[in-house]
Amino acid sequence: MVHNPSRLFLFAVALAAFVGESQEANILGLFPSQMPSHLIIQMSTAKVLAEQGHNVTVVTTLKPVVTHKNINVIQVPLSKKEEQHLSDTIKTMLQNNSGNMALSLLRTMDKMNFLFTANADLLMDDRVKQLYLNKDNKFDLVLSGYFMNDFQLGFAKKVNAPVIVVVTLPPNQLLNHLIGNPLEVSYAPAFSAPLERGKGLTFHQRLVAYGTSFFFGVYAYLTEKRNRKLYTQIFGDDPNMPEYSELLKNTSMVFFVSHAHSEGPIRPNVPAAIEIGGIHIKDKPDPLPQNMAEFLGNATDGAILLSLGSNVKGTHVSPDTVDKMFNVLSKLKQRVIWKWENLEKTPGQSANILYSKWLPQDDILAHPNIKLFINHAGKGGITEAQYHGKPMLSLPIFADQPGNADAMVKKGFGLSMSLLTLEEQTFHDTILEILSNQQYSEKVASFSSLYRDRPMTARESVVYWSEYVIRYRGAAHLQSPVVHMSFIAANNIDIYALLAVLLLALIFLLKTLFKLIFSKLCSKSKKKKTQ
Ligand SMILES: *[C@@H]1O[C@H](CO)[C@@H](O)[C@H](O)[C@H]1NC(C)=O
Ligand SMILES: *[C@@H]1O[C@H](CO)[C@@H](O)[C@H](O)[C@H]1NC(C)=O
Ligand SMILES: *[C@@H]1O[C@H](CO)[C@@H](O)[C@H](O)[C@H]1NC(C)=O
Ligand SMILES: *[C@@H]1O[C@H](CO)[C@@H](O)[C@H](O)[C@H]1NC(C)=O
Repeated sequence: MVHNPSRLFLFAVALAAFVGESQEANILGLFPSQMPSHLIIQMSTAKVLAEQGHNVTVVTTLKPVVTHKNINVIQVPLSKKEEQHLSDTIKTMLQNNSGNMALSLLRTMDKMNFLFTANADLLMDDRVKQLYLNKDNKFDLVLSGYFMNDFQLGFAKKVNAPVIVVVTLPPNQLLNHLIGNPLEVSYAPAFSAPLERGKGLTFHQRLVAYGTSFFFGVYAYLTEKRNRKLYTQIFGDDPNMPEYSELLKNTSMVFFVSHAHSEGPIRPNVPAAIEIGGIHIKDKPDPLPQNMAEFLGNATDGAILLSLGSNVKGTHVSPDTVDKMFNVLSKLKQRVIWKWENLEKTPGQSANILYSKWLPQDDILAHPNIKLFINHAGKGGITEAQYHGKPMLSLPIFADQPGNADAMVKKGFGLSMSLLTLEEQTFHDTILEILSNQQYSEKVASFSSLYRDRPMTARESVVYWSEYVIRYRGAAHLQSPVVHMSFIAANNIDIYALLAVLLLALIFLLKTLFKLIFSKLCSKSKKKKTQ
């Protein structure tokens, strides 16, 4: 193709320039969330970019679990008092999360205010302010972790870089204003149970969706009022900062942690809405530790993974329940990997059980011999099992676990039973039901193949679109015009008003004309009569 050496040289230079263009960009991640699950997702996007060779600086409150050598972490932890306040707040949120989500959000709004002041404090911390005060720092992109904290977008303006918002939710009403995503309440309700395929929404479903959306509207209004105040508090001393509503019109993209093709809802999204669901799951599993690889590899009758998460240590489960579980599991022909903290004191010895303090859960679930995942219905574990297409038995205890388990069972990916009332016989029968009835594994396997079947993996999407925004210093050309329009203009309400006025004028005109003709006719006939 390229024979001439000088052309070869030019080709190499061009290639280097092309590759070099978005290489080693300086990226800033603002991830102040106090929720570990949010931070895992946000750090996973940062890590993908660090692996690509970019220089990533992140600001966090929590100590991140996901890290990389190219990621420089600035951690601004909460004080002891703030931490206590936080754990109380989360407890309240989880306890009162049973009914309508919007209502429970409104109810806890006062308590939650603390989360936002903590976020504002973090942005005003001296080490964080240095990121823009020190003029040696140059950033090409800001990733802003979302938690109803639009005021944080001001930081991107401070470091004069385009911004992508990273949100651990599917496309949703609270984010619509940033990129002009349409609100489609009649058929794409936010936070609804999965809709039945091949059917529209009933009147009742639409009524509930409308009510929910209305509450979110009120919530968004109150949120923006608070955010505007915090924006002034953090950046108000700088006359170069734009007006708050102008600032919001400058978001290049939003990364949503969802995948509509497999999870729904099926709805229209603007080009600036990018779905990166599954970003925290490895595309290819790492090799397992030697002992686990052999144990699973030799499991000719299949194997079961049992992990009740990191919060539910052996001590939280009564010894009686553990005995019952051991009695059932040790008699199975399947092999079992059991996550157990205290290896000195295991539930009992059995040739088919391997205890381990630490588990590469994602890599184990990827193993073809795993036929069942017994878990505590944590969101992370369920997502991983869905990704790898493994049926589940969930043993929820508290917080969001019962809800997660219900949703999993509704999708047909497995069964659920309470850990606190576990009985030997039902535990045994439920395990056998999931292992022998193909419908669970088939349903979750078919979800898994839809989930993974994408033109670009979640990681490739993050790299591509982040570098895209870096290349064009934003994505203004992708922006929906609706971002710059008022509610009235966006919904053509003024045009409807004009039509209504014209219609009324026409009716008035016709009426007057009709009256005139009628009275003329009347007077004529009267004249005739009197003649
Ligand atoms: C949850 O909400 C109810 C009111 O619906 C309230 O009485 C209760 O105290 C709340 N729980 C907590 C822990 O705040
Ligand atoms: C990475 O970015 C930080 C923050 O701007 C900067 O201090 C550091 O020097 C950069 N490192 C490299 C290798 O460019
Ligand atoms: C929008 O972002 C660009 C950087 O991408 C910046 O130069 C510009 O000043 C920002 N405008 C506003 C109104 O924030
Ligand atoms: C697995 O099988 C191999 C022989 O195929 C054997 O050497 C090894 O000890 C077995 N490992 C376990 C854990 O059973």
